[in-house]
Amino acid sequence: MSTATRVVGTAVDRLEGEAKVRGRALYATEHPVDDPVFAHLVQSRIARGRITGIDTGAALEEPGVLDVVTHHNAPELASTDDAELAVLQSPDVGYRGQPIAVVLAESSESARAAAGLVRVEYEQAEHDVHLSADRDDLVAADDDREQGDLDAALVRADVVHDAVYTTPQEHHIALEPHATTAVWSEGALTVYDSTQGVHWVRDALTDLFGVDPENVHVVAPHVGGGFGSKGPAHAHLVAAVLAAQRVQPRPVKLVLTRQQSFPIVGPRAATIQRIRLGADAEGHLTAVGNDVVAQSARLKDFTEQAGTPTAMMYAAPNRRITHRLARLDLPVPTWMRAPGECPGMFALETAMDEMAIACGLDPIEFRIRNEPDTDPDSGLPYSSRNLVVCLREGARRFGWADRDPAPGTRRAGEWLVGTGVAASTYPVNSMPGTQATIHAQPDGRYRVLIGATDIGTGAWTALTQIAADALGAELDRVTVSIGDTDLPWASGAGGSTGITCWGSAIVDAARRLREEVPEGQPVPEGGAVVTGATPDNPHSGQWSMHSFGAQFAEVRVHRDTGEVRVPRMLGIFAAGRIVNAKTGASQLLGGMTMGVSMALHEQAHVDPRFGHVINQDMEKYHVASCADIGDVEVDWVDEDDPHVNPMGTKGIGELGIVGAAAAVDNAVHHATGTRVRDLPITPDKLL
Ligand code: MOS
Repeated sequence: MSTATRVVGTAVDRLEGEAKVRGRALYATEHPVDDPVFAHLVQSRIARGRITGIDTGAALEEPGVLDVVTHHNAPELASTDDAELAVLQSPDVGYRGQPIAVVLAESSESARAAAGLVRVEYEQAEHDVHLSADRDDLVAADDDREQGDLDAALVRADVVHDAVYTTPQEHHIALEPHATTAVWSEGALTVYDSTQGVHWVRDALTDLFGVDPENVHVVAPHVGGGFGSKGPAHAHLVAAVLAAQRVQPRPVKLVLTRQQSFPIVGPRAATIQRIRLGADAEGHLTAVGNDVVAQSARLKDFTEQAGTPTAMMYAAPNRRITHRLARLDLPVPTWMRAPGECPGMFALETAMDEMAIACGLDPIEFRIRNEPDTDPDSGLPYSSRNLVVCLREGARRFGWADRDPAPGTRRAGEWLVGTGVAASTYPVNSMPGTQATIHAQPDGRYRVLIGATDIGTGAWTALTQIAADALGAELDRVTVSIGDTDLPWASGAGGSTGITCWGSAIVDAARRLREEVPEGQPVPEGGAVVTGATPDNPHSGQWSMHSFGAQFAEVRVHRDTGEVRVPRMLGIFAAGRIVNAKTGASQLLGGMTMGVSMALHEQAHVDPRFGHVINQDMEKYHVASCADIGDVEVDWVDEDDPHVNPMGTKGIGELGIVGAAAAVDNAVHHATGTRVRDLPITPDKLL
């Protein structure tokens, strides 16, 4: 046995924390490069149509301007299959705000000033940006599910709930905006990108530019936040790389302004969800349905799979879930923290609160009564499902037992007071292909190489903890390198899979190392090098794997103004082993904070006349600030799940946001007696 203290589970400080607070951590456009050129995008001012004329004369005359790249002079892409990424390849316009030219100059100020001088003429086509459930051109996404007979069960049910819930288009507000430094030199491309996955970016660029993967180098050691939109490549990345081709070997730096990021990196799709629930007289669900209509784009389909959690949350023999997409002349939606589960659980968990009341049951008791033995969707047993434990533990700590269920009866001065609960869930996803290499050195030190990314989550630190335990080494003997395609291939930070995929590859490499150099034996002079990979999980297909949680919220609603405050939240989660108690708690707390923001603030207003978001900045697109967030407490229950992966982890990046908005909404109902079914809960909806 090793004498090293196990570090998984402890609250290790973020290893790169000091570099970050001292300003030594380099972000995408801070890496030192020689003689950079600054790029600024020109964006389309129509939502649909084509460019008939583009006059770059005045822009080119601006001092310091080097080039204006348009569809007339842009290098040709090797692949234009993806309409979102076929940047500057044709005069066609698919959404307002789409990049239609790149101005290159000696300073970012010159580039930005000159971008305003590019004159564009359009042949405008009629656009359509209106999301509604009764459009006759909705298209089916291919993930409908049906069990039993929902309609017949609703007819037979003693209690029926049938209501429509809506969630708005939302946007990513990462601290570091999407940004890229791109350098072409002798046929090889180097990109410093603000990305959730360096190899994802490399693979996208390999296809788009027809270059061999060996000739594309993507670097992202530090990333200032990513909530999904930094997973897939977006148009600005292609624009930067095309522009760099024109001025090579000079590097090109492109930073999106906050306003530009609204259309260019994709929103969370708006949803309209019709939830139908049927129950018998004892409050056992007999029917569960969710018909989802979600915003998609004419350029490319994206399915916000909001119905997915409805498939597996509660027992009911009759179930139907449908997804229909509206292909609008809007930017292509993208992943945003718990895509699908987040808006889907807002609808389902608000409906569950309404149904509990209709059945005359406490909302916790109602959920416990409908706890399934096996996953109703797949029929598989759960590898672990501790929702009930979370609900009970949360109820105890939150003081739920004293709750008077009558709505609109508690006052604190001018404020109405209420409490609410909702469940949370997120699947244990996995992606294949990640590799990790370990160099063991004769002095007892280890270097671990893996192309993972830390988007601010603490993943870098957590992987170092996992490596240290797997190697039986002290933490300070292990150095993990991430964020570079020169390192072994890794999947990106997405779907809460990072620790599962990357950690499993590291554990596999450590196991191989021990086969070569058994513990206690000296490492040969010159060291030992092994590479491992994320193994196929032998348990997959045999167990249903999800994390769960219980979210509690206390709200105060002002009697006269309808203002909602959230002084207190509690989240109790069951997410397998938590690798780092500090950064893990921060992930869950951050998710809940984003959930309060979703509940009360976030909403893009699309102007139907022009097809753009009118509140496309942080002044008018509100995200929760410190003053909006009260006391948020996070904890988890011990959960030992031997099926998910060798570390017993389930993923925590997205779980914390799921259900949080419903808990707030349910508390608002308890405070006021008013049920809000469309987010965000703005004061006008309560007056
Ligand atoms: Mo997450 S939306 O998969 O980055």
